[in-house]
Amino acid sequence: MKKTVIDFLLLNNKQLNKDNFLLVLQSPIPVSDIFPGQFINVEIKDATEIFLRRPFSVLDVDYEKQTISLLVKILGRGSRKLTEAKEGQKISAIFPLGKSFTLPDKNDRILLIGGGSGVAPMLFLSKICGLDPDNVTVLIGARSSSDHIDITAYQPYGNFFFTTEDGSLGEKGYVTNHTVFIDRLTQFSKIYTCGPDLMMKSIGRTAIGKSIFCEVSLENMMACGFGVCLCCVEDTKAGHKCVCTDGPVFNVNDLKW
Ligand SMILES: Cc1cc2nc3c(=O)[nH]c(=O)nc-3n(C[C@H](O)[C@H](O)[C@H](O)COP(=O)(O)OP(=O)(O)OC[C@H]3O[C@@H](n4cnc5c(N)ncnc54)[C@H](O)[C@@H]3O)c2cc1C
Ligand code: FES
Repeated sequence: MKKTVIDFLLLNNKQLNKDNFLLVLQSPIPVSDIFPGQFINVEIKDATEIFLRRPFSVLDVDYEKQTISLLVKILGRGSRKLTEAKEGQKISAIFPLGKSFTLPDKNDRILLIGGGSGVAPMLFLSKICGLDPDNVTVLIGARSSSDHIDITAYQPYGNFFFTTEDGSLGEKGYVTNHTVFIDRLTQFSKIYTCGPDLMMKSIGRTAIGKSIFCEVSLENMMACGFGVCLCCVEDTKAGHKCVCTDGPVFNVNDLKW
């Protein structure tokens, strides 16, 4: 699908918990070719000091209604300003950007691991991967129960497990401490993950060690989002690659992890 600068219409802006918001954006053109792992680069309106667009993964798509959803976690001024956007406001974004995850084959048993806002592409993947929900396991990690978002809408698509660092929801610790990860990893034919770098590195190295297919979605800092500024470069086994165009999804075997 051709990359375009589009004025989306903000249909809904809902606060999910202290720092996370769900934004539903209406597209003036079909969104038929968007897949999990792809992202959009959003202009922050009415904030002249914020010059660069900010990248956000697509959390969900309604192909019929031509809407896309974003999960926006407040990190700094740009994301905060975006969460203050009012319904009915136009939001300019370049889309669709980046490469998606490789969709699993019908006999795969997959493990999706999301940390923090990295849960967004994992929920989208669980929904459209086309697998029997029994073959889809989703492991979600956060600091505390209050940081987890409501995943009720995605529960029909897989088996969900949680970790929190303080033990307030699910098992205590990181996702890599969870019994699914420790005891059941070899049951999975493919692992997909998005979240903090350290989490993905730990998961990726374990997958390499056990020879399990593993794709990670990198969240390197970005500016242009389409391969011009080179600010998102990752040093891979095949040389320097732009995360925005060659990724954000990479097979762990291609990274210098
Ligand atoms: C491909 C991609 C997909 C993303 N998807 C999502 C998503 O679905 N939901 C979501 O909430 N966020 C997502 N992010 C992260 C999001 O882009 C940043 O949170 C946002 O750009 C921060 O902008 P800001 O102006 O609020 O913060 P800034 O003022 O620019 O920075 C505030 C702090 O956040 C850190 N920071 C900024 N950008 C990043 C980043 N990319 N990764 C890690 N730390 C960063 C800065 O170092 C600084 O400490 C994604 C990033 C990428 C590259
Ligand atoms: S963000 Fe500009 S090249 Fe990737």
